Amino acid sequence: MSLTTSIGWVPPSYGLTVIAEAASPDNTISVQVLLDGDGRAHYAVSRKGEAVIKPSRLGFILADQHQLERNFALVAAETTRFDETWEQPWGERRFSRNHYTQLHVRLKESAREGRSLNVTFRIYDKGLGFRYEFPEQGGLETVNIAEELTEFDMAEPATAWWIPAGEWSRYEYLYQKTPLSEVGQAHTPMTIRTQSGLYMAFHEAALVDYSAMWLRHVGGQKFKASLSPASTGPKVSRQAPFTTPWRTLQIAETAGGLVENDLILNLNEPNVLGDVSWVVPHKYIGIWWDMHIGLATWGAGDKHGATTERTKAYIDFAAEHGFRGVLIEGWNLGWDSDWFARGFDFDFCKAYPDFDLEAVAAYAREKGVRIVGHHETAGNIALYESQLEAALDLYARLGVDSVKTGYVADVGGVRARDDKGNIVYAWHDSQIMARHHLKVVAEAAKRKISINAHEPIKDTGLRRTYPNWVAREGARGMEYNGWGNPPNPPEHEINLVFTRLLSGPMDYTPGILSLEGNGQPLQSTLARQLALYVVLYSPIQMAADTMENLARYPEPLRFIADVPADWAETRVLNGEIGDFVTIARKDRHSDDWYIGAATDEEARTLEVVLDFLEDGRFYEAQIYRDADDTHYIGETRHNYVQETKRVRTGDRLTLKLAAGGGQVIRFTPHSVG
Ligand code: NOJ
Ligand code: CA
Repeated sequence: MSLTTSIGWVPPSYGLTVIAEAASPDNTISVQVLLDGDGRAHYAVSRKGEAVIKPSRLGFILADQHQLERNFALVAAETTRFDETWEQPWGERRFSRNHYTQLHVRLKESAREGRSLNVTFRIYDKGLGFRYEFPEQGGLETVNIAEELTEFDMAEPATAWWIPAGEWSRYEYLYQKTPLSEVGQAHTPMTIRTQSGLYMAFHEAALVDYSAMWLRHVGGQKFKASLSPASTGPKVSRQAPFTTPWRTLQIAETAGGLVENDLILNLNEPNVLGDVSWVVPHKYIGIWWDMHIGLATWGAGDKHGATTERTKAYIDFAAEHGFRGVLIEGWNLGWDSDWFARGFDFDFCKAYPDFDLEAVAAYAREKGVRIVGHHETAGNIALYESQLEAALDLYARLGVDSVKTGYVADVGGVRARDDKGNIVYAWHDSQIMARHHLKVVAEAAKRKISINAHEPIKDTGLRRTYPNWVAREGARGMEYNGWGNPPNPPEHEINLVFTRLLSGPMDYTPGILSLEGNGQPLQSTLARQLALYVVLYSPIQMAADTMENLARYPEPLRFIADVPADWAETRVLNGEIGDFVTIARKDRHSDDWYIGAATDEEARTLEVVLDFLEDGRFYEAQIYRDADDTHYIGETRHNYVQETKRVRTGDRLTLKLAAGGGQVIRFTPHSVG
């Protein structure tokens, strides 16, 4: 007898056998599930008969049991169809069609422990999602996951747009454009364009009670899931039965096709909050840019920003110009010590002596304006959670129905309590934080408060389930233009549209009409600042400049006050990642359409056809465009032209964008013709 058979081991056979397969409703995309000779499960994806993902492994390394990744045999595979159109309470579009083929595959180890693991695929015509299901079973009641073994082996070389995962500044990086084979470890969404011209975005949906997935390059075009770390013990610990988040792949023939895809939202559970008419899309101003450019401070002293007097002046400004909200940062105690990544002194219910919260709230009510609350935690969620209910009660009592939270700490610097109540330091996208954010969102929902999280965990479409989780930061935002470090280059906002924004709304905070940071100019034209309200979707949009600066530009200010933050329809008219984009959106509450366009550092002329306008009507097109001499560098960046044209459906418009520029147009129907 040979040595190998005496220890029960036979040489592996790598031949793959298809054990289940299914195709999307119109057959564009198909998925195969395969087993190799060792019973390792794989999946493969093809589009129109061409491989997109080569056979890629599935499975887990467990922390306290033998790994769960081989000896599998098929128990059953079931294919079902689903087709439903649902209404978003707010969003980029009112109706979303969720139309897929589901393939549910039940696997069981045929040797050793005999454990079960199921995988569900939802196959759409424009992508797919799959997730694991740990069924209830003896011996695996608590599942402690050390690592996920999910692979993504891309069939073709590609160009990738990505930011590094695991680096200190969370998601706040400029996007790199490299060959896919040169990506290191990336956050999702990661977007690629394959050699044959397909656009694909990798992400996840419904990140609930689990650690976020990073993508680790392991050679060639192959990536492996890498779960965000836990400070101690397994990266994920759950009681079975449970399902993991969906691992998603959106596929399109144009870059814009990725944006027009609702796959992430569709893979999330429907709204669990019932009537959410209290979640109100809106625009806000606030005591904010003053601090970022050094004119004011969050903490006490001569330059304290959030004083009663200044807040009342902001409330007056909001009432006069029609902004719903006024954000107040730095009203509550705790900013005077070394707060960054510590936050020990924050008191979410006590104000600085020069800020009278009750008086300010009463003044806001009188003026028909809402205070937008702020909770900077510095990542100290142990402290924040101990005050959370009282802090939200206070806001609710005062009529504050929207709160911006913040978690300013480097990666791995979140101070949290584990299940046993011990202090641990956690990652911003760990299981602890996935739980924390939903706890805040659920507590806020009880009080009819909406949440906008900065330095958050990434968006995975949970706004469908919790419509009060209205927006997040989670990328390099406008604030970087204020600080004196290199500003966001013009291509950054275009990159965001095709990467970060695929995950959900971003509180980017446009509207710096002064185009000035702290001692350095923004790399933008004025018309572009206006275009960003249409290009970068969020149901809450800030007019981020100081009120003094906003007041210097009455016409652009009027446009910002008027532009909707809630849409009935969204169409991408053109776009290339990092180069340019034009998006058309229809107002949810009128017949007006808008288009917003932006370009990178190159001046461009874009042709658009107004085929989205309603037939038989004339529209007045109110245009805000770069002037002929405008350039994003230098004094001409402020030059813009406001003009009006009469247009109808099918007309062609030529949009001339300056280098680093933009253009925005409002189309208002004015007669039947
Ligand atoms: C970072 C946030 O992104 C910013 O908007 C906020 O002003 C500061 N933290 C302070 O909370
Ligand atoms: Ca930030």
